[in-house]
Amino acid sequence: MKAPESRHFLILGATGSSGLLTVQLALGRRHSVTIYARSPHKLPEEITSNPLVTVVKGAPRCMRLVVYHYSMLQLGELTQEDAFESCFLPKEGVAPIYGVISALGPKVGQPSGNPLAAGYEVLLRLVHKYSIQRIVLLSTVSLSSPEDRFSIIREILVAGIKIIGYTAWTDVVAIGKLMQSSAATGLDVTLARVATLNDADGGSLKVGFIGDGKVGWMLARRDLAIFFVDEAEDPKWAGQLPFISS
Ligand SMILES: NC(=O)c1ccc[n+]([C@@H]2O[C@H](COP(=O)([O-])OP(=O)(O)OC[C@H]3O[C@@H](n4cnc5c(N)ncnc54)[C@H](OP(=O)(O)O)[C@@H]3O)[C@@H](O)[C@H]2O)c1
Repeated sequence: MKAPESRHFLILGATGSSGLLTVQLALGRRHSVTIYARSPHKLPEEITSNPLVTVVKGAPRCMRLVVYHYSMLQLGELTQEDAFESCFLPKEGVAPIYGVISALGPKVGQPSGNPLAAGYEVLLRLVHKYSIQRIVLLSTVSLSSPEDRFSIIREILVAGIKIIGYTAWTDVVAIGKLMQSSAATGLDVTLARVATLNDADGGSLKVGFIGDGKVGWMLARRDLAIFFVDEAEDPKWAGQLPFISS
């Protein structure tokens, strides 16, 4: 099989477990990677010292926000357009960014105001500005697709997240609306929906829709990384909301 062409991907959420596996896989396939992260100190040295990697730190807009407003601090990073934009600026000897992969996901207990959706609004402005077409991002069972069938397990999972993590649920829904709005027109956006992540070995990725009898409820982060990089190289599910499992 022919090796995929080397590309340059911007990866968000790279300091998390799935994001790190995604970075490692992309590098293993000889792609260049730009990481935009609020806590780059969490990245292992093996990543930061790799010549194919550029790390850009998102910083809060003003120190007072850090001290007094934790929720604003979270908003200040992904929506800090000048720091975010520096990820897209041309770098000598590195191809322009070809696509964006985001392993960012909302957290139970996160502040209200849909911080991830706000960050993605900035991202959409930037991808249009720099003529980048491809975005693959994490989503959850809280979004539905017309191809889904009824599933009582899904109803229970969504009811549970609404009760224990309402602000996370509203953020996922806001991201779904944004990515299907006119702001995303002309882009190849794949929203990869997941239920429950684990650290199993992977190697058994399944892609389909809820209730189709093919996909299950558990997804190895390693399989998520494979889906992310495969889809960013060659989008097969753009414009859709595939549900993925192991
Ligand atoms: N565990 C599950 O079963 C499950 C199920 C459905 C969805 N998810 C979602 O899937 C995502 C990936 O899971 P994981 O376990 O691999 O991730 P993880 O280890 O929790 O890492 C999450 C990543 O997102 C970043 N992040 C989160 N909120 C952010 C914000 N407001 N601004 C900037 N960066 C932010 C984190 O940055 P920092 O390192 O700076 O914190 C980190 O890089 C998670 O975000 C989670 O919400 C998980």
